[in-house]
Amino acid sequence: MQPKYIESNRKNWNERVPFHMTSELYAIEDFKKGKRELRPFEKELFGHLKGKKVVHLMCHIGLDTISLAKEGAEVTGLDLADDAIVEAKKLAQECKVKVNFVAGNVYEADKILTEKFDIVYLSYGVLCWLNDLTKLFEVVKNLLVPGGRFVLIDDHPFLAMLNKDLQIEHAYFSNNEPERVEPEGTYADRTADIKTESYQWWHNVADIINSVKAAGLTLESFNEYPFGFWPRGCTAVQHCPVRRRSHRQIHATDRADHSERGWDERRPSGSRPG
Ligand SMILES: C[S@@+](CC[C@H](N)C(=O)[O-])C[C@H]1O[C@@H](n2cnc3c(N)ncnc32)[C@H](O)[C@@H]1O
Repeated sequence: MQPKYIESNRKNWNERVPFHMTSELYAIEDFKKGKRELRPFEKELFGHLKGKKVVHLMCHIGLDTISLAKEGAEVTGLDLADDAIVEAKKLAQECKVKVNFVAGNVYEADKILTEKFDIVYLSYGVLCWLNDLTKLFEVVKNLLVPGGRFVLIDDHPFLAMLNKDLQIEHAYFSNNEPERVEPEGTYADRTADIKTESYQWWHNVADIINSVKAAGLTLESFNEYPFGFWPRGCTAVQHCPVRRRSHRQIHATDRADHSERGWDERRPSGSRPG
């Protein structure tokens, strides 16, 4: 990826950090009081964490990274935005949790980090910041011990096609050209004064799965969930309930949990998540 895109994204994410630290969405004060931990389906994906070495790539301000450490894992978090890493370190200290936070570009994570990990984790709004998924997954493979596991949770590519009215506005398929995204606040605060544009890439399901294969990883499971993680996903689920009642009941708690955190949709029409 061209350095100018990385640099612009780094600045954009650094600018978001102070707004995220005081946002309702991240609810840092509640987090410090221990009110947020890993979600049940995440715990299921990780399995037993005690004593495991875990690296959380693109960890942002480190909330889920710290939660992993609270489960007994030995955790490293890495993110491009150095301001996010500064806040993550402070937060870990305040929570009295030991985490090794490092600033860096994920494409270089296997050079920056010299150790190997039982689990590599990437989560919630990550693939759209990267143009070359095969390269990303090769880095993941290099970071894993033999037999180690890679856990990736991200938005469904279908979601990126929708505008705020849940109408299809963007193509599902895209070329490898970046989309220049004008700053319009940040998803946690649409009024935030963000000045730097960002660059994003849109990947379809086949691209993701084929890149996992091309990097030499073995796909063990691929899940789709009937609930959302970000404002648009929550709105989509609320307005388009899944058909089978049993499904809705199973996941009712997840959705309530998200809406309680104020994950409503305030993004202007025509823009993608991000
Ligand atoms: C939406 S956040 C991810 C959320 C985070 N995983 C969590 O659980 O809170 C996206 C993060 O990716 C980081 N990022 C973007 N491009 C990156 C890159 N090339 N290398 C490392 N981190 C990157 C941003 O700085 C930002 O913190």
